[in-house]
This record gives sequence, C-alpha cells and structure tokens, in this order.
Amino acid sequence: MAEPMAPEGNVTAPLRILLLNGPNLGTLGRRQPEIYGTDTLATIVERARAHAESRGASLDHFQSNHEGALIDRLERLDYDAVVINPGALAHTSYALHDALVGCERPAVEVHLSDITAREPWRGVSVIAPATRHQVIGRGWRGYLEAIDLLLAEVSAR
Ligand code: DQA
Repeated sequence: MAEPMAPEGNVTAPLRILLLNGPNLGTLGRRQPEIYGTDTLATIVERARAHAESRGASLDHFQSNHEGALIDRLERLDYDAVVINPGALAHTSYALHDALVGCERPAVEVHLSDITAREPWRGVSVIAPATRHQVIGRGWRGYLEAIDLLLAEVSAR
C-alpha cells in the first residue's frame, strides 16, 4: 500500500483521521439501544474527536446512508487514515472495499456490536480485507481503540 503524502518540511503535522459512519448510524441513541447503546452519534463523534486531539491528531467526521456518498468522501483524499463503521455495508459492499483499497490510506473497521455473535450474515465483512484491523463489540469505546490502533501503526513506521 502506498504511503500517504506528508507535507514537505513539516514532520510534526497532525495525523488527519477521517471518521466515516455508514447507513443507519445517524439514528444511534434511539436505534435498538439494547444493541447499540443510548449515546447519539454526535456524542460519540465528540468523544472520538476529543480522543484524537488529546493524542495530537485531528478528526473529520462524515455520516451517510448512501454508499456512493461514502465513496465520494473517500475519494477526496484529504486525510491520512480512516476509521470506518460501514454499518450493514460491511456485509455487502465490494464498492466500499475497493474505495478503501483505492484511497491507499490505513483504515480500521469498527462495529459497535459483536457482529460475530448475531445473525450469520453479519459475521462476514467484505471490507475487512481492505482494513488493517477490526474492532468489534466494544460499543462507542471501539472508535477510540480504532484511533489508537491507527496512531500506533503510523508511529511504528
Ligand atoms: C454495525 C453492525 C452492522 O451489522 C449493522 O448493520 C449496523 C451497525 C455495528 O456498529 O455494530 O448498522 O455496524
């Protein structure tokens, strides 16, 4: 995988993390709280942003219910690394897989719930081969773990 471009002469530029959330994640808080918890997406994103900033990284967030909009966002290439909860697109979207490969940035996949312990079709992620790690079943804290995994990857280079 090609390395993201570092701005010339500025080795201390903060890592720019793109946080993507896919379909139905905009309704967190009221959507099946027994599975996904009661925190809204806005609350979770603020925690993720604070976590990233406390570690010297920046975080830009984008949520969409539309596969193509997520791919369009990835194609902008204005970030160094990706945290993505693709929602159900994890189980179906080869297009999202290809966009993650095509962006040539390290990515970590997050699922709030343990997708391996639910319906069998949820246990398969077709985007997983395009990511460095999966964090599953850790609730909102999984987003923070994903950020730490990305930072560890980048600092190990
Ligand atoms: C999810 C798991 C998916 O199977 C589901 O379609 C979602 C949420 C999770 O965060 O646990 O929308 O990605």
